[in-house]
Amino acid sequence: MQTDPAQYIRDTIRTVPDWPKPGVQFRDITPVLQDPRSFRVLIDLFVYRYMRQRLDLVAGIDARGFIVGSVLAYELNLGFVPVRKQGKLPFRTVAEEYALEYGNATVEMHTDSVRPGQRVLLIDDLIATGGTMMAASRLLQRLGANVAEAAAIIDLPDLGGSKAVRESGLPVYTVCAFE
Ligand code: PRP
Ligand code: ADE
Repeated sequence: MQTDPAQYIRDTIRTVPDWPKPGVQFRDITPVLQDPRSFRVLIDLFVYRYMRQRLDLVAGIDARGFIVGSVLAYELNLGFVPVRKQGKLPFRTVAEEYALEYGNATVEMHTDSVRPGQRVLLIDDLIATGGTMMAASRLLQRLGANVAEAAAIIDLPDLGGSKAVRESGLPVYTVCAFE
């Protein structure tokens, strides 16, 4: 095994060329989740970073952010709240739209998922343009939360998302990057 845990995670991520469309190099985290050792290393990296921070909740983004976010919340003894794609949540919601390559998408949260003043860690598998992360952060801010950091496994720095998220005032932590 590699000595550097972040490099080990990076090496375990699978790149699928031309998926979901030609020209896209899809960074697939399923091999990380499938292997118990890399799954543990991944979660422990996040636990180590956040175990000494004062947090109240972990908010995971639909869909792969649910996987890492819920396990991390459990390990940190925090609650978990979902940031979902439009039309999936049953109770009253707040919504934020963000731009995709073609058109727009919307994320939603339950209006009672966060109490004003709670410190929330936002987590997803990957930051590309940063649109999803920034829309989720806007949702949390509208609910009165303090968003402590935006965390992800993978950064795609060439797409400028992590830079844009930082420039919006939100600290960013990613385990590894694919240029
Ligand atoms: C992917 C990824 C992030 C988002 C990042 O999800 O899991 O949530 O894109 O892209 P961005 O930084 O440009 O916003 P996707 O929207 O493809 O949805 P999925 O979870 O249904 O695959
Ligand atoms: N979401 C946006 N771009 C992606 C990529 N290259 N791999 C995985 N998920 C993505």
